[in-house]
Amino acid sequence: MSESDSDHDRAVELRAQIRAHNEAYHGRDVPTVPDSTYDELLRQLEEIETRRPDLTTADSPTRSVGNAPSELFSAVEHRVPMMSLDNAMNLDELNAWHERIIKSFGENETYGFVCELKFDGLAVSLRYENGDLVQAATRGNGRIGEDVTLNVKTINDIPHRLENAPAVLEVRGEVYLSISRFEELNTEQIDKGDPTYANPRNTAAGSLRQKDPSVTAARQLSFWCYQLGEVVGGPELQSSEQTFELLERLGLPVNPEVEEFSDFTEVWRFCESWMVNRHTPDYEIDGVVVKVADLAQREILGSTSRAPRWAIAFKFPPEETTTRLTAIRVSIGRTGRATPFAVLEPVFVGGSTVGMATLHNEDQVSAKDVRPGDTVIVRKAGDVIPEVVGPVLAERPTTSMQWVFPTVCPSCEENLERSEGDANTYCINRRCPARIETGISHFASRNALDIEGLGERTVGLLVEEGLVEDAGDLFALTKEQLLTVLVSDVTNETLVNNLLTAIDQARECLLPNLLIGLGVEHLGPSTAELLARRFGDIETISTAEITEIAAIDGIGPVIAQSVKDFFSDAHHRAVVDKLRTNGVRLDLVEGEVDLPQILAGRSVVVTGSLDGWFTTRDEAKQAIVARGGKSPGSVSKSTYALVVGADAGQTKLDKATDLGVPTLGEAGLRQLLATGQLP
Ligand code: IVH
Repeated sequence: MSESDSDHDRAVELRAQIRAHNEAYHGRDVPTVPDSTYDELLRQLEEIETRRPDLTTADSPTRSVGNAPSELFSAVEHRVPMMSLDNAMNLDELNAWHERIIKSFGENETYGFVCELKFDGLAVSLRYENGDLVQAATRGNGRIGEDVTLNVKTINDIPHRLENAPAVLEVRGEVYLSISRFEELNTEQIDKGDPTYANPRNTAAGSLRQKDPSVTAARQLSFWCYQLGEVVGGPELQSSEQTFELLERLGLPVNPEVEEFSDFTEVWRFCESWMVNRHTPDYEIDGVVVKVADLAQREILGSTSRAPRWAIAFKFPPEETTTRLTAIRVSIGRTGRATPFAVLEPVFVGGSTVGMATLHNEDQVSAKDVRPGDTVIVRKAGDVIPEVVGPVLAERPTTSMQWVFPTVCPSCEENLERSEGDANTYCINRRCPARIETGISHFASRNALDIEGLGERTVGLLVEEGLVEDAGDLFALTKEQLLTVLVSDVTNETLVNNLLTAIDQARECLLPNLLIGLGVEHLGPSTAELLARRFGDIETISTAEITEIAAIDGIGPVIAQSVKDFFSDAHHRAVVDKLRTNGVRLDLVEGEVDLPQILAGRSVVVTGSLDGWFTTRDEAKQAIVARGGKSPGSVSKSTYALVVGADAGQTKLDKATDLGVPTLGEAGLRQLLATGQLP
């Protein structure tokens, strides 16, 4: 086959592939390949067509943008075409664009360059006539788009009426979904057991192209404007700055991160700085758009059939790529939740190498239909956990089989359970080594008790040797035990000593950290703090009524229920008992404890020694005083109750009986502290 034939064949193949991706991306809002792969195909086609102009066709995707409008919406012809942008994949390509501009005007001309963020959403054109929003259209193929007026009118950022506007004003910009809203929507999807949305861009596109505007409204889309289309009347505009001023004055949302430079090195700096900080905004950006600022210069530079010559998109490195999914495994968390995850052929994406990605739960695996052996699209944006977006179906091996969720726990081999209406599957074996390990690692982690030297590996060894079954056991570990278990691992005895010191220091832990460490579901640092301040110690929290917990400002019924459920569980109570026995403080709260003064005006005498909930009599007295009560040393007729510990003196008991003062054991005291009432 001659070279010209192979160029021809390759061009035909590339056009077919690009058209198929266009259809999927713009028409159905589902990605088939990452953007970077799409861009690469387009570049290859451009390269062939530039080298071999005889091979270009009038309908080549290099000459148009996007995709033909769908039948769902009526067609809108753009009076000024909506163009795409050429890309610069690195600073060299950006410089090449700069060189071309200089060449067009000569060295002596002065230029201003506006740098704007490149929003990753979908372009729409808003048409205002005499100030009224009369039409909104998608880009479509650049010439003909889709009428999405009703849907666009549900976007809060977009005014329906502009005051003192030109007779006709077409405003172009990007409809997008904020990252926080995207995450909220996905949490809702997971809770409902529905498939998650792939990324904010596709979700925004899918949300805008709905037949029912109330669906669009519920998604809560946003908008940034960056460009004008047809304009009739209004002030004479000469620069980008004046354009943005006008848009802003009319009440349209203009992104604040726009900067203008005359020195091109400043343009590089802007691009590089945003590449590093691309995840700081609450919306996705995939590059920087650099534009010639002067509108007359833009006019002179003009456009190709696809994109203006006066602008270029400096693209950031992709955060999506493809790799092979070699296996799907299940990990067991501290609550026993079995989370499926993908084992991937390691791939560099979003700034780091990714070898695993979460698949959330059984329904998510089915919804995405990812299978071992699939080539999958992997996405890693900033610090977020890497995600499998979906399979590249075209590359699925014919022998592939659907993955089935395991029936037994991979760690303890007991049966896994999934109850009806719950998207999650659980290992319910409390003694499951994986559960114990993750539970203890969580307990020792930075946000909880922050026990230095107690990483996952050490915890694994301790669990394997049967030395710890729950967090309470950590505080009974001896140096000898640690040396025998860790000796091959930790050659240095001082490391064992350090670990013991760290464990000892953790005895003085703050109550909110302890609550987090124990793993009360739904409790975060601030809600744990609220609970600690309101109740003061773990005993009181564990006996508090749901209504009392829910009455705390900032704590809702879900957390209240979760706290109640947690402490109703005998296993959790046993762990707390063990912590207490092993000398861990359960009542340390920083700052003012804001306990309800339920014992105000009451005097409660404590006698004998206490060794259950309260390690000393003093602790019991403090708890009474902290609730507004008094705890004098002797019984009188004004005594509200007498708490009787072990080996209590007979005198106080007799006196209480004489005066009719009720006597309580330790359980009674706990109830009194929690409710202010006698049992
Ligand atoms: S100006 C005639 N400015 O990127 C050029 N486009 O890849 C009009 N985009 O079609 C585009 N942020 O949908 C411009 N600040 C920005 C942009 C931006 C995102 C989108 C727009 C365009 C696409 C090209």
